[in-house]
Amino acid sequence: MDILSVQALQWTGSALKVLDQRQLPDTCRYDDYADATGVAEAIFSMRVRGAPAIGIAAAYGVVLSALQHADESLGDWRQSVQADIAILAKSRPTAVNLFTALDAMQMALHQEHATPATLLACAEKLHADDIAANYAMGELGANLVAGAKGILTHCNTGALATGGYGTALGVIRSVYQRQALPIYADETRPWLQGARLTVWELAQDGIPATLIADSAAAWLMKSGAIDWVIVGADRIAVNGDTANKIGTYSLAVLAKHHGVKLMVVAPTTTIDWSIDTGASIAIEQRHQNELLPACYLTNNSLVSAWNPVFDVTPAELITAIVTERGVVLNPSAHGVRSLQ
Ligand code: MRU
Repeated sequence: MDILSVQALQWTGSALKVLDQRQLPDTCRYDDYADATGVAEAIFSMRVRGAPAIGIAAAYGVVLSALQHADESLGDWRQSVQADIAILAKSRPTAVNLFTALDAMQMALHQEHATPATLLACAEKLHADDIAANYAMGELGANLVAGAKGILTHCNTGALATGGYGTALGVIRSVYQRQALPIYADETRPWLQGARLTVWELAQDGIPATLIADSAAAWLMKSGAIDWVIVGADRIAVNGDTANKIGTYSLAVLAKHHGVKLMVVAPTTTIDWSIDTGASIAIEQRHQNELLPACYLTNNSLVSAWNPVFDVTPAELITAIVTERGVVLNPSAHGVRSLQ
C-alpha cells in the first residue's frame, strides 16, 4: 500500500498534533493540543474536519483528558473524563462518527481496569480501523467505477478528512492507480474544501485534478465528461438517506437528470443505526460570517445569510453506498441492514 501522503492527526505520546486545515493550502502547520477542551475547539473551528477525522480527534481528546486527570481517584477520574466527553460531543452535530467514537471511548472508560493506556489503545484502534476501512472501500469502489470516463467529487474526503487515505477520495486514489482518468473537484462553497484541500491533496500524490465552480456541475454533466459523482458522508440513515456537505443533494438531483451515477463512500461508523430515515438528522448551521461579505457584517444590516453546511440526499438518488463491509446497490433499509 502507498504511504499516506498527508496526515490530519498525529499522536505524539502526550499531545495530539492537528494540521490546521484552515490555513491550507498556503501553510502546512501542526499545532499541539494537550487537553480535550482544546481538541473540541479545534473540531468546532474546523482546524480538523471530515466525519471520520473528527471522530478520531475526539477519541484522542478523551485520552488527553484521561492523562490530565490520571492522579485522581478512579471515581473522580471517570467523572472528569466523562465531563470532557460531554464537551467533545458538543463540538459539531451532524457527523455521527463523532458520537460513535465517543461511545467507544466511554465504554472503554467504564471497563473494570480502565487506565489512560487502555483508552489510548481504544483511540489507536479506532484510528487504525478507519485507515483499513478506507483501503478496503478504495478497492470495492474502484471495482464499480471500472472503465469510467471521468469522476466529479465534492468537499474533501481524503486523508485530511479521515484517519488516512480517504473515503470517496480513497476510491479516486484506487481508481487512479488502475486507470488515469479525468478527476473534477467542486470548489465546495462556502468553506472551499474542494478548492483548498481536495485538489491540493491529489496534487501531493501526483494525481491531476480539475477544479470547477459548484455552479458548473450541471454543465459538466451535460458535456458528457463524467459518468460518476463520488462523495463521502457524515451520517447515513438505515434507509440509505445520506447527510453530506451542502451541495451534495444538488449534485444528486443533477446526476439523476443527466444519467450520471452517484456513489456514497463511507465506513460503517458513518451509519446511524438508530434512525430510519434522514428526516431526523441534525443539520449544522454555521455562523453567517462564514458566508457573508464583511461589508454586510454591520449592526442594522438588511443583509443576512442562511448557512446550513450539510444536506440530506434521499436514498432513491444514490446508485451505491460503498462501505468496508460491502456495497449496497440502490440503497434501501434491507440493503443497509445487511451490513450490520
Ligand atoms: O464540514 P466538513 O468539512 O467537516 O464536511 C466534510 C464532509 O461533508 C465530508 O464529505 C464527509 O465528512 C465525509 S469525509 C470522509
